[in-house]
Amino acid sequence: IRQLLSCPEPSVSVQSSPIEVSGWVKSIRRQKNVTFALINDGSWAPGVQAVLSAANTPKNLTNGASVRLHGRLVKSLGAEQAQELQVAAVDVLGECDPETYPIQKQALSIEYLRDNAHLRPRTDAVASMLRLRSQLHRTIHNYFEDQEFTYVHTPVITPSDCEGAGETFRVIPNSPSPSENNTQEEEFFSKPAYLTVSSQLHLEALASSISRVYTLSPCFRAERSQTNRHLAEFWMLEAEWAFTHGIDDVCRVAEGCLKSVLANTTPDPAFPWSEGRLQSLEDARRSDTWARMTYTEAVKELERYHASSKIFEFEPKWGRALQSEHERWLSESLVGGPVFVTDYPTSLKPFYTRQNEDGRTAACFDLLIPHVGELIGGSLREERLGHLVASMKKHGLDEEEYKWYVDLRRFGSAPHAGFGMGFERLVSWLSGIENVRECIAMPRWANRMLL
Ligand code: 4AD
Ligand code: MG
Repeated sequence: IRQLLSCPEPSVSVQSSPIEVSGWVKSIRRQKNVTFALINDGSWAPGVQAVLSAANTPKNLTNGASVRLHGRLVKSLGAEQAQELQVAAVDVLGECDPETYPIQKQALSIEYLRDNAHLRPRTDAVASMLRLRSQLHRTIHNYFEDQEFTYVHTPVITPSDCEGAGETFRVIPNSPSPSENNTQEEEFFSKPAYLTVSSQLHLEALASSISRVYTLSPCFRAERSQTNRHLAEFWMLEAEWAFTHGIDDVCRVAEGCLKSVLANTTPDPAFPWSEGRLQSLEDARRSDTWARMTYTEAVKELERYHASSKIFEFEPKWGRALQSEHERWLSESLVGGPVFVTDYPTSLKPFYTRQNEDGRTAACFDLLIPHVGELIGGSLREERLGHLVASMKKHGLDEEEYKWYVDLRRFGSAPHAGFGMGFERLVSWLSGIENVRECIAMPRWANRMLL
């Protein structure tokens, strides 16, 4: 249907050669002599209008039924569409009881659609979201390939908790090994195994060999807080490369990637845009270089504003993590666009982050964007053997477990850096969809895994 209708010159396709269209009935209007049915195959919102004579309309042509129609594309007499399908023959492939079909024509609440995650891709917004994900995939791959990065695959099962936040899921075999009759949970790998929270550590090993790598991989976090930005299973785009010069290098690559994404996506009208969100996307697209400020500067601004307005629930203070309300104020109100906040206190950052000379802050950044907050986190990695070992001690990491990681600093260590971008948060930004639970087909969060 997309190919059919996105044809730029309607008259070209109105040459009346017979065509076949398959899809699902989205709505149907029966009149005395004629029936109008909206047919959608998910490729193009809202679909194509099919026109049938009443005599030619089977009884079981109802909402939700899957159909194959044979006919010709003609100029439409209606004002709502340029072309329509004049139907000569109908095959109803799969019937659908219009009374019990969960996807009714009227507006359906977000919560209701979450409960029907298996059918919600039949709505225009979710179908568009899925197509957006696919397109982003393509754009991002093109960007990194152009920048001479190599696409790599990293393990999902890992012995480490990269971020050290204690949010890992354990992996254990479901059935005990037949040779053992102990009742203890079996360690399949002879040591604890987890689902990855980030591919970074493995990417570092690969960047230490082939210089520039990236991956797009599912990540898993047992994140219990219920927010519109967190999922238990989400996708992360991560890039890692060697021979960096400083944190500004890293921000530039992240910004370049997003600018290329912005240049290659047009806002889809099927999304629930608010005026503000659409505008902020347009502003980011047009803005030459996105703002940069240090964490210390950001906290000063937050403190100043809080002193006069008392607006924040959490008091901003140097040494404390920025809360989502702070992040959004910085990008939406203070800067009015995306902003890289750099050089957070070392104490707030994972063990691998490179110390700055001041001994208090680390060479890292978060990219904050309007309406979403943190979209990207990145840093220079501690490439100095002594500094890394000291940091691992401070974080209580098992030296034996991370020996391979320390080796990377022993054998030809190079200054290197990288970042990770939450794919669903990117989709949220580019679609105006407020909650990341609507930015992935089958979302998982605490107490929720329907299918
Ligand atoms: O800031 P985070 O935790 O950084 C890392 O994991 C680094 N190791 C990445 C790297 O440098 N290679 O996560 C990166 C991004 C966040 O900015 C956010 O967009 C997203 O991943 N993210 C989540 N998205 C959805 N649900 C969650 N629970 C997320 N946790 C992080
Ligand atoms: Mg982060």
